[in-house]
Amino acid sequence: MIGNLNHVAIVVPDLDSASRLYREVFGADVSTPVDLVEHGVTTVFVELPNTRIELLHPLGENSPIRRFLENNPDGGMHHVCYEVTDIEAAIERLSEQGLRVLGGGTSSIGAHGKPVVFLHPKDGIGTLIELEQA
Ligand code: CO
Repeated sequence: MIGNLNHVAIVVPDLDSASRLYREVFGADVSTPVDLVEHGVTTVFVELPNTRIELLHPLGENSPIRRFLENNPDGGMHHVCYEVTDIEAAIERLSEQGLRVLGGGTSSIGAHGKPVVFLHPKDGIGTLIELEQA
C-alpha cells in the first residue's frame, strides 16, 4: 500500500544553523525558509536525489510542534511521510486493522497542497507517520 518515502521531518531549534548544516556541511540543496501559516510551521526543504528532508520550526503560539520542541530542545525527528495512491482507501484499511488515524480519521490538506493524514505514533512503533496522497 505505501509507496515512496516522501519526506522525513525534523524539528529544529534554529532554522539558520540547521540550514547551514545541511547546505554547507552535508552539501545538500536547501531552500530558503517558507512560512506555512495555516500549519503553524516555518519549513526549509532539503532536496535529496530520492526524497526530501523537511526542517520544521514552530510558527505562532499555537504551533502543533511547539510542545515537541519544548520536550526536545535540541530538536529531533518528528515524522516520516509515505506516499499512498488513494488516501481514503488507506484510511479505511488502517482503521479496519485497528490503527488510530488522527484527526477523526479525516484527511486534510497538507503542506504540499495534497491530502494527508497522520497515524498515532503508538501504532507506528513509536513513530509519527504521515500518509500523503501522491
Ligand atoms: Co510532513
